[in-house]
Amino acid sequence: MSGWGIYTTSNFREAVKVVSVPLVAPGDDQVLIRNIYAGVNAADVGTTAGLFNPNAELPFDVGLEALGVIEAVGKNVTTHTVGQYVIAFGANHTKEFAYAEYLYVQPEDVIPVPSLNPKFLGLLVSGLTATIGLDELGRIQKGDKVLITASAGGTGHIGVQWAKRKGAYVIGLTSSPEKAKLLTELGTDRVIDYKTENLDEVLTKEFPHGVDVIWETIGGQVYETLFNHLAPKGRLLIVGSISGHLTSPTIDNLNMKVDHKALCGKYVRQLIGDVVNNKLRVVLDLGQNRSEGEFVGIESVVRGVEIP
Ligand SMILES: NC(=O)c1ccc[n+]([C@@H]2O[C@H](COP(=O)([O-])OP(=O)(O)OC[C@H]3O[C@@H](n4cnc5c(N)ncnc54)[C@H](OP(=O)(O)O)[C@@H]3O)[C@@H](O)[C@H]2O)c1
Repeated sequence: MSGWGIYTTSNFREAVKVVSVPLVAPGDDQVLIRNIYAGVNAADVGTTAGLFNPNAELPFDVGLEALGVIEAVGKNVTTHTVGQYVIAFGANHTKEFAYAEYLYVQPEDVIPVPSLNPKFLGLLVSGLTATIGLDELGRIQKGDKVLITASAGGTGHIGVQWAKRKGAYVIGLTSSPEKAKLLTELGTDRVIDYKTENLDEVLTKEFPHGVDVIWETIGGQVYETLFNHLAPKGRLLIVGSISGHLTSPTIDNLNMKVDHKALCGKYVRQLIGDVVNNKLRVVLDLGQNRSEGEFVGIESVVRGVEIP
């Protein structure tokens, strides 16, 4: 079998190379998954830049989330069976694996799904971060004004829908008319295109009493501006700092995979049901509209990660 391993800590393309290792039976407490789809996250770039686990020994595996079929189970595994469709995700940044043809996973990180619909992949890092983060740290309430940065991104567009479902007034930040259109379709009450509108001016004029919950993923000047518009008793959630991914350690007060692991099972089951019942829209980029075509095969991982 083959998989991607990190060999240096510069940019993703330069940092990785495909390596082949023997495909062996899973350990007694492991599940072996044949990978069909892998999810791409903003965190991949931070990982290869060494920001999340600076003490990791090189080379290490990459890729946070996988959708596939169980190929074999260890003799102590009673919770899963061969042939099941599953999603799997790394419990922490030292256990990444998904950019590989096969993966060995602990059973607690393997969740059954009803089909191989790639939309289920969006429920792991993105879906769980958005929903658990808004509920547990944002403590969103009906009527709250909730501002979501990178709102058309993987995490953001699920956050928008979750906040709307809770009865919030949702403000979404984005950078293009195409993304603004998607956000409007998802129910965003006020889309701010920060390329054509001045964020500080819009918030001062339209939200003079401030914003109750701010989902901050950008950092730098955006963080400074938003901080000044937090309402009294508001909650500012620092979920990432994508503008500084390659230059500075990620400031992050939300590590849901560690802090909120106990909630993940409950939330992911609900989200799977929501996708099946068309209550949650998960928008994916499978590459079909890109000049080089659909992302197919392990070689295409680099292209997927490099998309802005
Ligand atoms: N704490 C956690 O557990 C956790 C989990 C998941 C994600 N995160 C963080 O949440 C953020 C979003 O992650 P994601 O996977 O949803 O990202 P994504 O789908 O790749 O979306 C990223 C979006 O960020 C916006 N952006 C604004 N300024 C940017 C810049 N300087 N460079 C690149 N993108 C910029 C862009 O949208 P516009 O063009 O619309 O501005 C871009 O499409 C990241 O900071 C990530 O690290 C944290």
